[in-house]
Amino acid sequence: MMELLPRRAPSGEECSARLLPVIDVRNLQVRFPTRDGVVTALDGLSMQVMPGEIVGLVGESGCGKSTAALSFMRLIPQPGRITAGEIVLDGQDILKLSDREMRALRGPSVAMIFQDALTALDPTMPVGKQIAEPLQLHKGLAAAAARARAIELFGQVGIPDPERRFGQYSHQFSGGMRQRVMIAVALSCGPRLLLADEPTTALDVTVQRQILRLIRQLRDTLNAGVVFITHDVGVVAELCTRVIVMYAGRAVEAGPTQAVFTHPTHPYTAGLLSSTLELTGDRSLPLYAIPGLPPELIDLPAGCAFAPRCPRADPECWNAAPILEPSGPQQSVACWRWKGD
Ligand SMILES: Nc1ncnc2c1ncn2[C@@H]1O[C@H](COP(=O)(O)OP(=O)(O)O)[C@@H](O)[C@H]1O
Ligand code: SF4
Ligand SMILES: [Mg+2]
Repeated sequence: MMELLPRRAPSGEECSARLLPVIDVRNLQVRFPTRDGVVTALDGLSMQVMPGEIVGLVGESGCGKSTAALSFMRLIPQPGRITAGEIVLDGQDILKLSDREMRALRGPSVAMIFQDALTALDPTMPVGKQIAEPLQLHKGLAAAAARARAIELFGQVGIPDPERRFGQYSHQFSGGMRQRVMIAVALSCGPRLLLADEPTTALDVTVQRQILRLIRQLRDTLNAGVVFITHDVGVVAELCTRVIVMYAGRAVEAGPTQAVFTHPTHPYTAGLLSSTLELTGDRSLPLYAIPGLPPELIDLPAGCAFAPRCPRADPECWNAAPILEPSGPQQSVACWRWKGD
């Protein structure tokens, strides 16, 4: 397989930048006003991704994973708002940038494979142009070279007959093919940080493998950081160096994937893992083994949000929400009772 972008020696500035996180998120809070009340989709999320690192973000539907990735692109839909915190991307606090400055970062600095391919693509522009134009703009490629690169990327994400497909519009593609187009768009400028939001859900196993290979390749050739969002802990185990387990808009456990998966300290992590072990190897099955459902994120009660579903809850758990604290050399957990009784 060909490289995503030609290799070149990093500049001195880039070398020193490599010691810094690609993204450093501190105490992020995101709220959506709704008819029923204010939804706090993220409540104090802090996380970092180093260059060359693939960090998995896992948790059931509705726990804030997509909101986190959208806020890193500064694309939270109105009337939603980032109400507190900092997002430092490659050394710059993106919450202080103008819209124009932020637009310039999307593509080369941060790119996203959206969960919903239909809304992510521009229906009025041929799909090939949606790759070729940013390549001309951000990477200075001539029109013919940008076109050739777009066609090459289409081939790499498994789109048959890429030359003919270049000039077609998104509505002419099936759901799975649209997903591939969007993956090609996200990878095209070789971003420093890739946000992949359930990128392979709609794809068959062979294409899934191909996409995971491309993501690894982006990491290896460009030392990019990746946030990989999924509810599939099997994929996290295989792909991610570190994992962050989310519940009700918060990180409840974080650490190196191997440490977290062999010694989960949060009862929710343990539940997610044990439900996976019971699966018959079919990773497309949803994980429903934890009793009950995640809470609505409106007016959460004061205590631990997991308490109503937690097998280890005791009366104190209902009084105050636990904060993330170290539970091992590199592992952290938000649970009052992780040490046991
Ligand atoms: N545009 C929106 N308006 C209102 N609430 C939203 C919106 N987007 C997300 N939310 C709410 O924010 C919470 C987190 O959603 P999301 O980030 O999509 O979770 P996940 O990606 O983990 O499934 C959910 O409670 C969801 O209902
Ligand atoms: S704080 Fe209590 S309720 Fe929450 S996860 Fe820990 S044991 Fe369960
Ligand atoms: Mg989502």
